[in-house]
Amino acid sequence: MTTEAYAKVNLTLEVFGVRGDGYHALRSLVVPISLSDTLEIAPSAALSSDTGYDDDLVIKAARALDPSRGAEIRVAKRIPAGGGLGGGSADAAAALVALNEFWNLGCSREELCEIGAQVGSDVPALVLGGPVVMQGRGEAVGRVACPRLDLVVANPGVHTSTRDVYARCTPRDLAAPSATEACLAALETGDLGRIAASLANDLALPACRLHPEIADALASLRTAGVLGATVSGSGSSVFGLVESAARAEEVAESLRKKGLSAWAVHTL
Ligand code: C5P
Repeated sequence: MTTEAYAKVNLTLEVFGVRGDGYHALRSLVVPISLSDTLEIAPSAALSSDTGYDDDLVIKAARALDPSRGAEIRVAKRIPAGGGLGGGSADAAAALVALNEFWNLGCSREELCEIGAQVGSDVPALVLGGPVVMQGRGEAVGRVACPRLDLVVANPGVHTSTRDVYARCTPRDLAAPSATEACLAALETGDLGRIAASLANDLALPACRLHPEIADALASLRTAGVLGATVSGSGSSVFGLVESAARAEEVAESLRKKGLSAWAVHTL
């Protein structure tokens, strides 16, 4: 059985105070994009994966779903790891959905989201699939509408520690106007200029301070002429909004010439 695990970008990411469990309360508009890993699942008595990660979210997800079953899982990686595109979480989410079918467990999407929350904060959003607003630690997810957007994703090749970036973030006032609501309103109008202006990520500043390469990548995107750009998740990937798929290809190619990894993608 073969399945695609789609990466995500955060069009907005608002960080509030630290909760009792040590995680930050957040609100984020998460949208899957056309960059994916491919998972291949084959029957096996034992559970195994070939990602080679110490903290393998695919194995963690499979065990959380049913610790008594086996499968051989192979992952063809294309999403950069540790890049703010939810790569490991996307693999875990795809594994949950696929293994539920492969093992004939009959779990509902909601049950899979709950199991996903034990695996990682981004997993429930990616299990639900499509554009979603996630809140709480990431466990409260609801679908929203988002038109197709053409984007350029770039990665400067550094790894950020999600924990370190969150630790350096100044939480926003709960009473302040919601950047996510503003972005949703902009998406509804379909006005690219408004959508570009509504991109917002409270983790962008601490991520850029920790790794100046991220600030440089953002500057490269802006110089290349995108309508708006920000960091995805806790970095190190950045993305910019452009007018068309052809324009995305053009900008991605100009960034690759500067030595960045870059992809022309669109939202799903
Ligand atoms: O849940 P996940 O393992 O993806 O989170 C990685 C790290 O990011 C956590 O250990 C925590 O330091 C930080 N985090 C946070 N608040 C969130 C999500 C993640 O502080 N809502």
